[in-house]
Amino acid sequence: MIDYRNPYTPGAGAMPKYLAGRDDILEAASLQLKALAANYQSRSLVLYGLRGVGKTVLLNSIESVAEGEGILVRHIEVEEKKGLIAPLASACCSLSASLNRIELVKSKLEQIKNLFASLTLSVDAGDGSLSLGFNEEVLGASLASSHNLSGDFTDILVVLGKYAQAAGSSIFIGIDELQYASKEELEALACALHRATQLGLPVMFGCAGLPKLLKMLGEAKTYSERQFSFVKVDSLPRDKAVEAIVRPAQKLDVRYSDEAVDVIIDYTEGYPYFIQELCSTIWTSSDSKFISLETVLGCTSIADMRLDEGFFSVRYDRCTPRQKEFLIAMVRCGELPCTLANVAHYMGRDVSSIGPLRAQLISKGMIYSAARGEVDFTVPQFDRYLRRTERID
Ligand SMILES: Nc1ncnc2c1ncn2[C@@H]1O[C@H](COP(=O)(O)OP(=O)(O)OP(=O)(O)O)[C@@H](O)[C@H]1O
Ligand SMILES: [Mg+2]
Repeated sequence: MIDYRNPYTPGAGAMPKYLAGRDDILEAASLQLKALAANYQSRSLVLYGLRGVGKTVLLNSIESVAEGEGILVRHIEVEEKKGLIAPLASACCSLSASLNRIELVKSKLEQIKNLFASLTLSVDAGDGSLSLGFNEEVLGASLASSHNLSGDFTDILVVLGKYAQAAGSSIFIGIDELQYASKEELEALACALHRATQLGLPVMFGCAGLPKLLKMLGEAKTYSERQFSFVKVDSLPRDKAVEAIVRPAQKLDVRYSDEAVDVIIDYTEGYPYFIQELCSTIWTSSDSKFISLETVLGCTSIADMRLDEGFFSVRYDRCTPRQKEFLIAMVRCGELPCTLANVAHYMGRDVSSIGPLRAQLISKGMIYSAARGEVDFTVPQFDRYLRRTERID
């Protein structure tokens, strides 16, 4: 090991020591957040991209900027098959609790009570101290059984937004893995945001998810295209990838040869997760403060093994044998994205009969529809992994 302080951070959502190549996105978000904090309209954000490109760390960074602006921030993650509503209801409850603590609100008690009089949710003034009366369990349960999710969630967001406005505050809700939300939930999100925007309420969402999120939001509500700024988070361009490799080590007086950096970039193709994994492997496997080409070449097979056992296999192992057949056929197609017709050909089946498998794999977040009739992997270099482990020529 070069030093006990390993500056590389392979891991889901692990904040890198140096966040490379995202300045433009952060600056644009920061302006939006400044506007939000000043009670001006701000467009909500959707960060989309493949697995491991750095959507979560970017969302976390944006949330830190928001906190720095004095905005009330909550972060939630949608879990597969668990849906958006429960964590969102919980975020709303804790936001209302935070707003309850703002002195300014107390002095505006009467005004706020009037504001909410027309809404289904009541304000419990109780002993004179204001409380919005959101109860997490009750709210979660009532939304889960709601026959009008869009209407009910709109009411809640409007209440919160008005509450925040009266308190001279503003709200940012970060939602990670939004592709796991159902169509009905996305519809409710879009409707509520639509209404909050019409009313000029200081509410902004920062969403992150796989590329299919674009289509999902468009299908949920056509106006969602205008509600959100869609920002593609991609692999790092060469100069930024160099920074991601070199900068964390520089602080600890560790240097790379130019050839070593070149090989790391070839191996990782600028994908942040792969950079962290390979550089971390180099760090633990080497003991020289000068990292040479030979050192890197000696580490790529160990990094392969680590990726195979973690990043790739956790996803592949969740697939059924039939789904795996589909994924292997995609690799046999040779080029990605590949057409469904070609996949069917390599599976020896009709195109129509593999439609359900395609849908299951999209829903699992393994593949996405890259263009009409074409599919690709959501995990970068997944084809390379399958070639290695399934011995595909
Ligand atoms: N801009 C960056 N510079 C350097 N390293 C980064 C950058 N962005 C992300 N990373 C690193 O890449 C890895 C993946 O980041 P993150 O978990 O945010 O990706 P993700 O897009 O959210 O992935 P997933 O879709 O699987 O949730 C982490 O190890 C993180 O430290
Ligand atoms: Mg993530």
